[in-house]
Amino acid sequence: MLFRNLYIENAEKLQDIRVEEGVITEIGEALLPREGEEQQDFGGKLALPPFIESHVHLDTCLTAGDPVWNQSGTLFEGIECWAKRKEKLTRQDVRERVGRAVRLYAMNGIQHIRTHVDVTDPKLTAMEAILEMREELRDVMDIQVVAFPQEGIESYPNGRKLLEDAVRMGADCVGAIPHYEFTREYSVSSLNYAVALAEKYDKLVDVHCDEIDDEASRGLETLAARAYESGLTDRVTASHTTAMHSYNNAYVQRLMRLIQLSGINFVSNPLVNTHLQGRIDTYPKRRGVTRVKELTQAGVNVSFGHDDIFDPWYPMGTGTLRDVVFLGLHVCQMMGYEDIMNSYRFISTNAARTLHLGESYSIRVGNPASFIVLDAKNYYDALNQNAAVLLSCKGGRVVAQGVPGKKEALF
Ligand code: FE2
Repeated sequence: MLFRNLYIENAEKLQDIRVEEGVITEIGEALLPREGEEQQDFGGKLALPPFIESHVHLDTCLTAGDPVWNQSGTLFEGIECWAKRKEKLTRQDVRERVGRAVRLYAMNGIQHIRTHVDVTDPKLTAMEAILEMREELRDVMDIQVVAFPQEGIESYPNGRKLLEDAVRMGADCVGAIPHYEFTREYSVSSLNYAVALAEKYDKLVDVHCDEIDDEASRGLETLAARAYESGLTDRVTASHTTAMHSYNNAYVQRLMRLIQLSGINFVSNPLVNTHLQGRIDTYPKRRGVTRVKELTQAGVNVSFGHDDIFDPWYPMGTGTLRDVVFLGLHVCQMMGYEDIMNSYRFISTNAARTLHLGESYSIRVGNPASFIVLDAKNYYDALNQNAAVLLSCKGGRVVAQGVPGKKEALF
């Protein structure tokens, strides 16, 4: 199969991609079609490595308003709403909603998802259902599962055991939620436990870290120190880190050295955190998004996630990461030309580092033929014009396709 006339990753010259048996075998200008070879000519469109959702909660997705709406819009009311919905969870309910969400993602060019799954549920219903789906959907979507203790490790009955049970069931990553634990001591010991568990079972770590406006929430320093000391380094991710927005600059300056030493990744969720944070501020109101610009400038790996799709924490979302990048650039004040042009990295190459996808994630000869084509010449235009995903090819298989949106002025 020959995919013709593509601008690969914002390149200025058009190239063709030859795919044989699911692998990219040739990339070059004006490749000559072989006899009988199928061709698809895009006539000058952007090809990118597939998009990656590096932080979402698939177990809660598509449940907003059921049984109650989050009226205050706060994270903590969200947790209360979810505790009510959780009572009604069944395997079939989770499977149906996750199936719908995965198809939404696929249509938007996403081929990898890291989902957090709540394990503060004595039955581990959602974990069981999502692990099952991870296997079933493997050919169309790669799903990485984080065992996520939504109501705490030390502060929830049997929290440690439930987390370990979920890891033994097959979760890929160990989670924690230090800012939700009852005390600072619990917060520190929950992180120690999560890191030790990851070492014991050879898993990755992804912590909901300081998702609060409290400048005294210092889970991040503990997590970074443990990542450094344990040698887990870039196998560890700090998600959210919204308190970092409110830390004083002198503290951040000191903390940045530890972050760099530790090699940890960050995931920021601009859409959801601008909605959830700053809720008890009067004016000025904090944006509540972590220091993406400064972390990036310091050489730290940062990716963007959607976090929630139409659930108790976020009442909107259609599974497109374009909205996440678009808002993220605004709130992080990263609107320079190069910033915009390269911003797809927040939902592709940077996210691939966080998920540890390795060398096979890139449009390169010898790699699996996994790429997407957008209806634009480069990512600047794609982002600005909300370009349609024309094709999503995963390992040589077309898993989603679209047509350009049509609007016209009648004058
Ligand atoms: Fe989250």
